[in-house]
Amino acid sequence: MSSSIELRDVSQVFAVRGDEDRQLRDFVALQGVDLTVAPGELLALVGPSGCGKSTVLDLVAGLTRPTSGRVLVDGEEITGPGLDRSVVFQQYTLLPWRTATANVELALEATGRYTRAERRERAREHLELVGLTEFAHRYPHELSGGMKQRVAIARSLSYEPGVLLMDEPFGALDAQTRERLQEELVGIWERTGTTIVFITHDIEEAVFLGQRVAVMSSRPGRVKEVVDIDLDRSAAVESDIRSTPEFAAYRHHVWASLRQQPARRLEEVERVA
Ligand SMILES: Nc1ncnc2c1ncn2[C@@H]1O[C@H](COP(=O)(O)OP(=O)(O)OP(=O)(O)O)[C@@H](O)[C@H]1O
Ligand SMILES: [Mg+2]
Repeated sequence: MSSSIELRDVSQVFAVRGDEDRQLRDFVALQGVDLTVAPGELLALVGPSGCGKSTVLDLVAGLTRPTSGRVLVDGEEITGPGLDRSVVFQQYTLLPWRTATANVELALEATGRYTRAERRERAREHLELVGLTEFAHRYPHELSGGMKQRVAIARSLSYEPGVLLMDEPFGALDAQTRERLQEELVGIWERTGTTIVFITHDIEEAVFLGQRVAVMSSRPGRVKEVVDIDLDRSAAVESDIRSTPEFAAYRHHVWASLRQQPARRLEEVERVA
């Protein structure tokens, strides 16, 4: 199952307090964002810190509503969070007193859709999907960071959402684990066909994962360019796709696109943080 996502002329304005006068003023986080994600597509959203990536994700997740514009899933306006969309966050979000299996089962239980036997079977299947069969009965503190994120991915996919939203899910991992999980994610995406929006500030990660890479600029946040990444992913398994000239060319293109934006002054960053 996979869904389409559409942002049409979306703006998001927050009220923030000024430093000197403590008066509330408008802070434009997103302005005129247009973005379409096709069913089954893996889109990477890349941009500098504070450009509004998580704000976009919150809108699609239904955690917030846009100040203006429309956010649609399968052509329907989003009115709140739903089981058709699932989020994997950067920080680990497992319940420490539940095993990997029990964490997945709890999410399934919350949907109210599955019997106890179905929950057990789905948890087993999805932990297998992320390569954690042997660790199914471990508690989060007995798992590495990468394993915890795999459990979170298994949990998110277990109830078959049409959209998987990922906000820097591998940001806290070491480089090697990160690369391995990126490869695994491509495999999982190919097997499940789920639409994925993957947020990152890492250009290499964006180019490796994305069929398309949406480049955001900041102040105000907008999508400045969407780059089609036409790499032969079947070759990624056997060879190191990251070291090919084609990969380097895409990486450079996205880098140059990001560089063309004015640097944010530090005091501005702090004023709105
Ligand atoms: N609830 C809020 N109230 C006020 N300002 C906010 C709120 N949420 C976000 N912002 C501001 O909107 C801007 C975009 O924030 P957002 O979290 O979307 O950035 P980001 O691209 O995800 O950054 P990072 O890569 O650091 O996670 C930032 O300047 C942030 O301070
Ligand atoms: Mg963010």
